Amino acid sequence: MALAFLEEMFGLAGRTAVVVGGTGVLGGALAEGLARAGAFVVVAGRGADRGAARVDAIKAAGGDATFVSVDAVDRESVKALLEATLHATGRVDVLVNCAGVNSSVPYLEIADDDFAKVLDTNLKSTHLGCQIFGGHMAEHGGGAILNIGSVSADKPLSKVFAYSASKAAVVNYTKNVARELAPRGVRVNVLCPGFFPAEQNRKILSPERTATIMSQTPMNRFGEPQELVGATILLCAPGAGSFITGAEVYVDGGFTGMRL
Ligand SMILES: NC(=O)c1ccc[n+]([C@@H]2O[C@H](COP(=O)([O-])OP(=O)(O)OC[C@H]3O[C@@H](n4cnc5c(N)ncnc54)[C@H](O)[C@@H]3O)[C@@H](O)[C@H]2O)c1
Repeated sequence: MALAFLEEMFGLAGRTAVVVGGTGVLGGALAEGLARAGAFVVVAGRGADRGAARVDAIKAAGGDATFVSVDAVDRESVKALLEATLHATGRVDVLVNCAGVNSSVPYLEIADDDFAKVLDTNLKSTHLGCQIFGGHMAEHGGGAILNIGSVSADKPLSKVFAYSASKAAVVNYTKNVARELAPRGVRVNVLCPGFFPAEQNRKILSPERTATIMSQTPMNRFGEPQELVGATILLCAPGAGSFITGAEVYVDGGFTGMRL
């Protein structure tokens, strides 16, 4: 009985979930988590080798997945991803927009192309995913979209100016799109992780910066990527998440709630 209830609340059997940036550290963990909840997962990203490895890991754990190459900042490529997903499974129920880049340059030295790349990858990719997949979901029975923000959306983080601005914009955009698509059965939420060592922030997490982060993180540690899975399933599942839209959910060991 308990298992049937959990399945009803959090199960994704028979659903298709697309994870853009599923080739990355956090996206990969979310892809594996969604597959373990029963979804067929489309791992989408730029690195075919990393995508194939993630698909293998999902299959080895008893799930099912495929890799589709996408450039998340290119409209035609995102449209092709939607077409490939529909070709593979005939449906799309969940989209996770998890492509992202970071850049740490002293404020007065930020180059225009660097600023633009961060804004494009973090914000434009979210916009294209929401518009193209959200538009399809609105016309085909609804769905759930999860965007990825950051604790820097709440408090701008030193040294990452474009990144913080992009994540604040992702949160604002998510709420606006949630309002727009709610009447058409599409829920849109944003998950804001704290600090999880990954490729895009490896260079930024110096020992000094790590010490500062820990001093402001009540749980006094970095997060593990799989610790984002529970909130992801809650926000994406049609059962448990049915009345949640426009929500900004922080998974950060208490960082955002901390005040010195
Ligand atoms: N790691 C953290 O502590 C942390 C904290 C808050 C938010 N985030 C966010 O989580 C998301 C995932 O980051 P991560 O930490 O796993 O980093 P990551 O570098 O491991 O993953 C990012 C992925 O995005 C992909 N990507 C970048 N540009 C792309 C494009 N144009 N098209 C397709 N794919 C593209 C990369 O190839 C990579 O696989 C990002 O949005 C990041 O800002 C991460």
